[in-house]
Amino acid sequence: MKISIVGCGSISAAHIGAISKIDDAKIISVADCIAERAHSAAEKCGAKAFTSLEDMLADEKPDILHICTPHYLHVPMACAAMEQGIHVLCEKPCAMTQEQLKTLRQTQSKTGVKVGVSFQNRYNRSSLFLKDIIESKKYGELVGMRAIVTWKRDADYYASGDWRGKKTTEGGGVLINQAIHTLDLMNWLSGGISAVTAHVSNDHLQDVIEVEDTVSVLAEFKHGFRGIFYATTAHSVTSPVILEANFKDKTFRLEGDVVFEIADGLITPVSLPGDAEFFGKACWGSGHSALIGDFYDCVRNDKPFELDSFEGGNAVDVLLKIYESAQIGKRVQI
Ligand SMILES: NC(=O)c1ccc[n+]([C@@H]2O[C@H](COP(=O)([O-])OP(=O)(O)OC[C@H]3O[C@@H](n4cnc5c(N)ncnc54)[C@H](O)[C@@H]3O)[C@@H](O)[C@H]2O)c1
Repeated sequence: MKISIVGCGSISAAHIGAISKIDDAKIISVADCIAERAHSAAEKCGAKAFTSLEDMLADEKPDILHICTPHYLHVPMACAAMEQGIHVLCEKPCAMTQEQLKTLRQTQSKTGVKVGVSFQNRYNRSSLFLKDIIESKKYGELVGMRAIVTWKRDADYYASGDWRGKKTTEGGGVLINQAIHTLDLMNWLSGGISAVTAHVSNDHLQDVIEVEDTVSVLAEFKHGFRGIFYATTAHSVTSPVILEANFKDKTFRLEGDVVFEIADGLITPVSLPGDAEFFGKACWGSGHSALIGDFYDCVRNDKPFELDSFEGGNAVDVLLKIYESAQIGKRVQI
């Protein structure tokens, strides 16, 4: 399979590393509007370098395009590729607005190409373990969920890319960028969030960014229970994400890719199958390789890829309602 990548910044390295492990995949081209970044990535993977997506696709059409650019470019770039019959693996968030999400989904349906969204934490051992526990109903129905994301993002992080910290190019702050993974897990594992009452604020970097660095949400779930979602990048360290699923007599706590069982006041680690091979950067999770491998398998064998613009867009639907609730100061139904 012929692969191209657009956007050769931080996350592209995780994509290149994952692709290099797949025998029948060859990166033929990479593009970045900063020529130096395109050349450096091209050198690492023996590919051609371009400074625009248009020039890259005009030179040779890949089977799959990886989109690793800033948020505001995801939908236009994905649609440009899809219209040329190219499968697309897009970094999160797959869209920034409701209009963009609609366009993306319509283009996927119209062109029939495969779309994948990089919610790699769904492939973590801990996420799969919890999904299994919930679906098995071994401990009954869920009665609550709680998520806490406390990370550190200082001014130097925002200075590392001029798209960061701006509404028009990032679409928001901690919620749409860092905490979207945890929101997606909560929405996916719970069977869906049905209403939100939310508050957002910029507590730490008021003179630096125009988007929120802190968000708190009271979530109501389709299955009739409530949950709490809290995320901030104002902390002074980046801690592993905590996600808890409460059953009547037992709670499972995911902390990074580790699971704890809590019952009768006792907290015990759960041993998970497989090993934590590449629980790479603690805050990103380790699933890029698994997700990319799964996506390629679906392209290779023409199978549906579950985490497409419809499934991967669900977290965008929820987060836009969170922003709406925070803005109007009222509960919003989804
Ligand atoms: N899945 C994850 O865990 C994860 C982790 C980090 C980042 N991301 C996502 O990956 C994407 C990129 O983030 P990043 O941290 O690598 O950002 P970055 O700023 O390091 O990289 C983005 C790159 O895109 C390039 N670019 C900008 N406009 C372009 C254009 N018109 N044409 C070609 N190249 C262009 C920039 O020059 C830059 O090199 C974002 O959507 C981000 O949310 C995902």
